[in-house]
Amino acid sequence: MPGRATAVILISGRGSNMAAIAAAAAAGQIPLAIAAVLSDRPAAAGLGIAQSLGLCAEAVPAAGYPSREAYDAVLAQRIRALAPAPDIVVLAGFMRILSPAFVTEFSGRLVNIHPSLLPLYPGLHTHRRVLEAGDRQHGCTVHFVTQELDGGPAFLQAHVPVLAGDDEASLSARVQRWEHIVYPEAVGLLATGRVTLREDRAWLDGQPLAAPLLRGET
Ligand code: GAR
Repeated sequence: MPGRATAVILISGRGSNMAAIAAAAAAGQIPLAIAAVLSDRPAAAGLGIAQSLGLCAEAVPAAGYPSREAYDAVLAQRIRALAPAPDIVVLAGFMRILSPAFVTEFSGRLVNIHPSLLPLYPGLHTHRRVLEAGDRQHGCTVHFVTQELDGGPAFLQAHVPVLAGDDEASLSARVQRWEHIVYPEAVGLLATGRVTLREDRAWLDGQPLAAPLLRGET
């Protein structure tokens, strides 16, 4: 993607990752224009934050559709209609499972951040599950979205330590600090075309990645 890529960011809640990506783009750290921030939940706090950042922010409410596929078709239509059409679809706390048609349409340009060291702890309540398991290490992962839930090729991870006395809130805050660093970096790698999805693998600079790039604390 030479020049400046365009992204749409999908959120469901607070939108702190969206804000971190928007800040990196505004500061010229990544070559990205944000066409819109869309939320399936009209009450998402992140919509107000996006507006205050001068971004186009819009709810595409998920309530009332007969099926996941029906909602996703409307969402995909809204994304296609954005001008300019987005090169990249960034899931930033978008708390819905996407249907196969949506994932296929945006394959290779659809990314997610997940609050665990995938393939460990796909799904919900990752911080609680890490604490219950007694793990000493936790983190977050940026990955391409494929049909497998939280299972697409990962290309950037941050490690954070689990400290004695941590609870869900403290651990989640430590992971989020790193999310706000690695997600803008990951979106930048995609925007510049350095990271791509080919043959079900993530590639960096024309080479298949044997393991995700690593950041964070040990
Ligand atoms: C982030 O911690 C992100 O990793 C997580 O939701 C949070 C959204 O925070 N995503 C998932 O759990 C996806 N499975 P934010 O709205 O402040 O960016």
